[in-house]
Amino acid sequence: MNPAWTTLTSSAVLLKRDDVDTDQIIPARFLTTTTRQGLGRHLFADWRYHPDGTPRSEFVLNTPGAQGAQILVAGQNFGCGSSREHAPWALVDHGIRAVVAGSFADIFRSNAHKNGLLTIALDPEVLADLHRVLEGGGDARPVISVDLPAQQVTLPLGAREGTVAADSGRGRDPGAGAGVGGEPTAGGGRGGHGGVLRHRPRREALPGGGPGRTGGAGGRAPHHPELGGGMRALIAVLPGDGVGTEVAAEAVRVLVAVARRHGHTFEFREGLVGGAGIDQVGDPLPPATREIAAAADAVFLGAVGGPKWSDPGAALRPEQGLLALRSLLGVYANLRPVTVHPALVDSTPLKPERVRGVDILFVRELTGGLYFGERTHERDAHGLSQRASDLCTYTRDEVARVVRVAVTAARGRQGRVLSVDKANVLATSRLWREVTMQVMADEFPDVRLEHALVDAFAMQLIQAPTRYDVIVTENLFGDILTDEAAVLAGSIGLLPSASIGDVGPGGHRRGLYEPIHGSAPDIAGKGVANPAGAILSAALLLRHSLGLEAEAAEIEAAVARVITQGTRTVDCVAEGGDACSTGAFGDAVLGELEAGAAV
Ligand code: IPM
Ligand code: MG
Repeated sequence: MNPAWTTLTSSAVLLKRDDVDTDQIIPARFLTTTTRQGLGRHLFADWRYHPDGTPRSEFVLNTPGAQGAQILVAGQNFGCGSSREHAPWALVDHGIRAVVAGSFADIFRSNAHKNGLLTIALDPEVLADLHRVLEGGGDARPVISVDLPAQQVTLPLGAREGTVAADSGRGRDPGAGAGVGGEPTAGGGRGGHGGVLRHRPRREALPGGGPGRTGGAGGRAPHHPELGGGMRALIAVLPGDGVGTEVAAEAVRVLVAVARRHGHTFEFREGLVGGAGIDQVGDPLPPATREIAAAADAVFLGAVGGPKWSDPGAALRPEQGLLALRSLLGVYANLRPVTVHPALVDSTPLKPERVRGVDILFVRELTGGLYFGERTHERDAHGLSQRASDLCTYTRDEVARVVRVAVTAARGRQGRVLSVDKANVLATSRLWREVTMQVMADEFPDVRLEHALVDAFAMQLIQAPTRYDVIVTENLFGDILTDEAAVLAGSIGLLPSASIGDVGPGGHRRGLYEPIHGSAPDIAGKGVANPAGAILSAALLLRHSLGLEAEAAEIEAAVARVITQGTRTVDCVAEGGDACSTGAFGDAVLGELEAGAAV
């Protein structure tokens, strides 16, 4: 991979107007400044606000779906009128990285490129298709990907072929259907704004960005780019117990394949955790594993636990290793996306029409609450349990930081957050609710927040799962609700998770990645476990800890295609259907990755 690669994957906001004038982009009365900061507030001011300054809710930029979108799609002749460079400044300050239109005014185009704003010109039919898809509504927000080195713009499904080739910025290549314009230079760009979109491979790292990557949700690894040689990363692999070892092996195969294809160098270091740690060195999180995990850019874990270690009287339990690891890494936010593959809507015990289109992101608080509180356990002289207690504590900061993760994720989705608690009974839940409301009001007034009590929500989740976007909740509720939610997807074996903490110095986001299923002792050792959850967790690792969005999306698309084609492990197979092995599912994903590359 060339270090100057730049990719941008974002939802798009549709401003279906021709002849958008720079005076409409940024009205003249706001041009009293020669600085760029803050101009985003006034972007499209006359369309966006009433004369008294209150937002017009009907204007597209004020709709929940537009929050976080970095791509603006317009009509013909964008940026006409007077030649003010404040127009791209305002767009960039608002967070727009690329404008897609039928055509651009020449001066706007050149001002845009000087200021790190990409322009993409589409042929009229392609643009009309794209407009149709974006107008289609629905809950899913169509996403556009721009891959500059590959000169590819990938449009949402339904807009032509999906992918159209792009030319080098001098007008359009009529045969190809789309033209990418963009010669911005690093100096002219907006450092700190997530990087400058570049067109030509360059050797320097992007300002504020990584080794030429932008658009990833997370930071980047500190093992930094070998120029011209891709990314180096150290990945700790802790397979653990039961099927954990089987699915981890498939995830690693996929990571190796992706590294090879993209020129990255991933070094894997394996460690003991859980029952394997207890058996081999008498510790569910041995010091050697702590060292490996602490030094790694990201940690991948299979599963822990099993009947062998489940004696309630045992002093050491595999789960202690996992909890200690979460605590050690400071990964307080556990992201558990739950989506339903269209080909699996019949695999759930629920009615297909209930689950079709489910797309929920659970954000579970992971390092607080009952899991980490003080415990007591009193026994009488005969060793019989008499009394036990688990202390549940939450602090303001613990709640606020996980809520911020949830809201940030919601901004890139439908912009709706539901906080789940038990505030009618528990003090910790009342604190949770109060802090959540304050954080939202102070920091995210644009995002819709609702609250639900956990018992009622447990029922609603099964009755009307398509209603939900992002759910944020405390540790124990999150553990229970995400197992319940797995029923929606058809099998718990399909679901990945990412546990993340703060972005550290150098932009690196600590992460622990594991499928949400357990060690499945009933099928362990048979080679029949579903590796999809583990492979999809590897994709999340690339996205959140290494900032490799395109690679992550490639894996997700490959898994989806494998399922579409009917490849099924035993947990997903319909009655009478053939089940494949863990390894065969992994092979199919690898095959799809290669096939995807050849397209
Ligand atoms: C999970 C698991 C763990 C948890 C166990 C294994 C400790 O159930 O990740 O959901 O309860 O967090
Ligand atoms: Mg669980």
